[in-house]
Amino acid sequence: MKRPILIHPDPRLKKVCAPVTEITDDLRALARDMLETMYDAPGIGLAAPQVGVLTRLIVLDCVKGEHEAPRPIVMINPEVVASSDETRVYEEGCLSIPEQYGEVTRPAEVELRWTGVDGHEHREGFGGLWATCVQHEIDHLNGKLFIDYLGAMRRQLITRRMVKLKREQARA
Ligand code: NI
Repeated sequence: MKRPILIHPDPRLKKVCAPVTEITDDLRALARDMLETMYDAPGIGLAAPQVGVLTRLIVLDCVKGEHEAPRPIVMINPEVVASSDETRVYEEGCLSIPEQYGEVTRPAEVELRWTGVDGHEHREGFGGLWATCVQHEIDHLNGKLFIDYLGAMRRQLITRRMVKLKREQARA
């Protein structure tokens, strides 16, 4: 089941999310719904606070090629355990800030630890778009948006546009 995506500015997008302590049916349903919502958008990553659930869960799939098999990943309590000195600049966007983009510099490679929906611990290194995306999604769990990396003027401009968008949506 698709869930509505919160649009910035929203106080729930500024909160530090709580760790998952137990993998319940509700959590599994949330992960399924988030993947469906992400693919439908379409997007390459989604964090639980973006659907209004303040818990440390993200989903992503950065496979871009039409002929490549999808690789949906659900990460519970994801943590960056190591990051490269080398950086990568990417023009990021966000499903909570539709049609707005900005260049963000982040470590080019990260090593991550997380728990899967099956309860198993995972540890894996990511590079390229995967590294950018996973860091962007973990930021969401800490109440941080990609526009927080931009200059104050640009951030305020984007925020004003989103306020206007939400006002128009509320009227529709
Ligand atoms: Ni985002």
